[in-house]
Amino acid sequence: MTWLDACGRLIAVFLAFLLKLTFQGAYCKLEVSPAGPAPVNAISGSNVTLAVSFSGAHDPVVTWFMKDLPVLTWTINSPSPPDIAKNYSKVLRIAPHGSLTFVNVSLGYTSNYTIEITKSGLGKASTTFTLKVFENIQNVILSAQTDFAQEGTDRLTLQYSMLQGVVEEQMWFFNGIEINTNSHYLLEQQSLVILKPNRSDTGQYTVLLKNPFNSVTTDINVTVLYGPDEPKLEAYPAQPFYISGDYLSLSCQAEGFPQPTVEWVFGGQTLSGSHRGVLNLTYVQTSQGGVYTCTLLNEQTKQQRRKDMTLNVYERPLDNPMCSVHSVNNVDLQYECWWLGGTPQAKLSFPALSNTSSGAETFSLTFTASDNLNGKTVTCVADHPIEQNMCNITARSPMDVLPAVSTTVDSEGKIMVTIYCVSDASPVAVVSWSKDSEAVTSGTTYHISSDTTQFKIRDYNISNFLLHNYTCTCHNPLGSHGREIQLRVPLFPGPSISNSSLFPNQNGTIATLMWEVPPTSVVTGFDIQMKGPDLLSKDGYGTQTRVSSNKFHTIQQRPGSDRSTDIFDLDPMSTYMFRIIPKARMTEGEPSEVQIIGPVILDEGLRGPAIAAGIPSSLLLLLLLGGFIFLCVYCNKNKRRPQTRYPVCRAVEKAVTTQIDTTPCNLLSGGLASAPDYNMLQQTPSERSVTLPTFVPPPPVRVATTV
Ligand SMILES: *[C@@H]1O[C@H](CO)[C@@H](O)[C@H](O)[C@H]1NC(C)=O
Ligand SMILES: *[C@@H]1O[C@H](CO)[C@@H](O)[C@H](O)[C@H]1NC(C)=O
Ligand SMILES: *[C@@H]1O[C@H](CO)[C@@H](O)[C@H](O)[C@H]1NC(C)=O
Ligand SMILES: *[C@@H]1O[C@H](CO)[C@@H](O)[C@H](O)[C@H]1NC(C)=O
Ligand SMILES: *[C@@H]1O[C@H](CO)[C@@H](O)[C@H](O)[C@H]1NC(C)=O
Ligand SMILES: *[C@@H]1O[C@H](CO)[C@@H](O)[C@H](O)[C@H]1NC(C)=O
Ligand SMILES: *[C@@H]1O[C@H](CO)[C@@H](O)[C@H](O)[C@H]1NC(C)=O
Ligand SMILES: *[C@@H]1O[C@H](CO)[C@@H](O)[C@H](O)[C@H]1NC(C)=O
Repeated sequence: MTWLDACGRLIAVFLAFLLKLTFQGAYCKLEVSPAGPAPVNAISGSNVTLAVSFSGAHDPVVTWFMKDLPVLTWTINSPSPPDIAKNYSKVLRIAPHGSLTFVNVSLGYTSNYTIEITKSGLGKASTTFTLKVFENIQNVILSAQTDFAQEGTDRLTLQYSMLQGVVEEQMWFFNGIEINTNSHYLLEQQSLVILKPNRSDTGQYTVLLKNPFNSVTTDINVTVLYGPDEPKLEAYPAQPFYISGDYLSLSCQAEGFPQPTVEWVFGGQTLSGSHRGVLNLTYVQTSQGGVYTCTLLNEQTKQQRRKDMTLNVYERPLDNPMCSVHSVNNVDLQYECWWLGGTPQAKLSFPALSNTSSGAETFSLTFTASDNLNGKTVTCVADHPIEQNMCNITARSPMDVLPAVSTTVDSEGKIMVTIYCVSDASPVAVVSWSKDSEAVTSGTTYHISSDTTQFKIRDYNISNFLLHNYTCTCHNPLGSHGREIQLRVPLFPGPSISNSSLFPNQNGTIATLMWEVPPTSVVTGFDIQMKGPDLLSKDGYGTQTRVSSNKFHTIQQRPGSDRSTDIFDLDPMSTYMFRIIPKARMTEGEPSEVQIIGPVILDEGLRGPAIAAGIPSSLLLLLLLGGFIFLCVYCNKNKRRPQTRYPVCRAVEKAVTTQIDTTPCNLLSGGLASAPDYNMLQQTPSERSVTLPTFVPPPPVRVATTV
């Protein structure tokens, strides 16, 4: 290739370029566009410019519109000043190339601005700016709509206010977590709405307010008040019931904010002394049982709730349940059971008699007496929450009627015989009395006690008692049982004193004489007779008389109720004989066996005065000598027999009948302290064996002691 070719090509390119330029100039288009950002943010009070550039024409006419309103018109490079709408003339300026400047812009200039350029013959062009004027956000205050938020209300609104500022964006946070609109929250202008607020909405709420120039956060602590919730009532220790005297506390608690106050009410009275809902009951009484009401109050919301609880305080009935059976008209049997006192009352029933009926505190059932009830033990079941108990009762027809007789002399000198008829019967038997098969009633001679078990006869003449047969018949609804009684005077028939015995004390100076009489004997008194040497001294004992040693003489008189006596001042070296004469007033009965005490039994013939008198006086000296020898022998014999001296139990010097459980030596070694009680009529040995129906006398034992 030659340089000419290269030059020619270069020229061609240049020409083409020139041609193209010429052609373009011939078809020039009018255009205008922003020279910087089209959305423009400005802080209020600053200068801001909406910069444009245009092409396609020289010196076009420029018009700025605020929205649709023309606010400034100018022909570029024209010497005449721009035509500015009146109210905007202080703020708006136009630059030589058409840009619009706001001097000291204020919030009111936030708008869309459009520039339109026109050139005759070339048409027009336009572009639009958005100007936002902001203010700094200052003094934001966040507040809740109501004084206090409460659970159960419809909505809770939090809103902010501020002294100044333009907010471009707001964000809400709950305890630091961003809140978005959902079913629980509603974000509105300047506010946050919490729908159906509850206790878990309590916390810190923060709002963040932003614009391009600054941002501010403010927070508020919100408490959602609630309660009282459903209260929980409890007693400690937890028991179905308490026993009077127990210690317990009642507690009433419920959730709530603020913490609810608690009030306990019992029996219409507000109880003081509860602390945080706990009420201590010390030494609780049955009167404190009942319904306790707990009232809880939220003092801020005035919401209140109440709930009841029942406290059971029980008390055991007194003693033990008691059972009895009574006769109704001597035909029916009334079974009764009672257990008094107690809270609640004990429930009583006789399951064996009726399984359907029962009673509280007392209960009775009446049945017609029948054989299958006779001897049947019926149990009363006594039910009380604290204790279950029972008592038994057995109805029985009268059996084994055991009569007993006692005799006294009344103030008029009449003999009074009392016959007792006691039977083991339940209900207690009623006794009817008859004399020789004829019913007797109370009068001057006969008297029947109010309980019918005693029958008294009073008469001067003993024969009148003895001629008759007396009958006592015991009855109750279950049957009857009779017994015939023939009174006997000790004189006749049979033994007058059924049993007698003698016990000396340890050193032989006191002896106790005991005896018994047959149960139906009429006895008004006893003569105690003695034979033997003088008693050692006189101690003023009223019934003791001077003694002589050769025959029985009365030394004591005892009343008919006595069954024993003590004889004092015995000479332990001497021998004494005693006997008991029973008496029915003036009539003397047969004497008892003779009881002997002393070291030896002398031949009665030797000591008899009649024999002594019959001995010729010439032989008296010989006899005295013989007596002296005898005495010496006697004394030696005594020295050789230490076992006859006390404290050896020598008891009675002849065969006696006594009871197995009585050890005479032990019984009497204590002296008078163990002497029988003479004053107790019913307690004398002979009567006890008949008046107490259940008494079974122990088998007698024969004790033989020989000298
Ligand atoms: C805004 O423009 C005016 C007039 O040209 C001037 O006096 C003023 O200082 C400017 N303000 C700022 C903040 O630049
Ligand atoms: C500006 O124009 C835009 C869109 O044309 C519009 O969305 C906006 O609302 C206007 N702003 C004002 C302040 O008129
Ligand atoms: C809100 O509570 C938090 C602690 O829970 C505390 O640090 C904060 O100061 C409270 N704010 C207000 C405004 O009381
Ligand atoms: C109730 O008793 C408990 C435990 O014995 C005690 O801690 C409490 O202080 C008592 N409360 C009152 C009100 O006396
Ligand atoms: C009560 O007793 C009758 C007969 O004595 C018996 O038939 C009945 O079942 C009993 N009832 C109950 C509840 O025990
Ligand atoms: C009552 O009788 C029953 C048997 O019949 C017996 O188990 C119970 O111990 C008796 N109770 C009393 C208090 O006697
Ligand atoms: C006692 O009574 C009987 C019979 O009735 C009679 O024979 C006797 O004379 C009476 N004795 C006296 C002292 O009255
Ligand atoms: C008393 O009863 C006995 C025997 O039962 C009899 O022999 C006697 O005749 C009766 N006496 C009278 C007075 O009825």
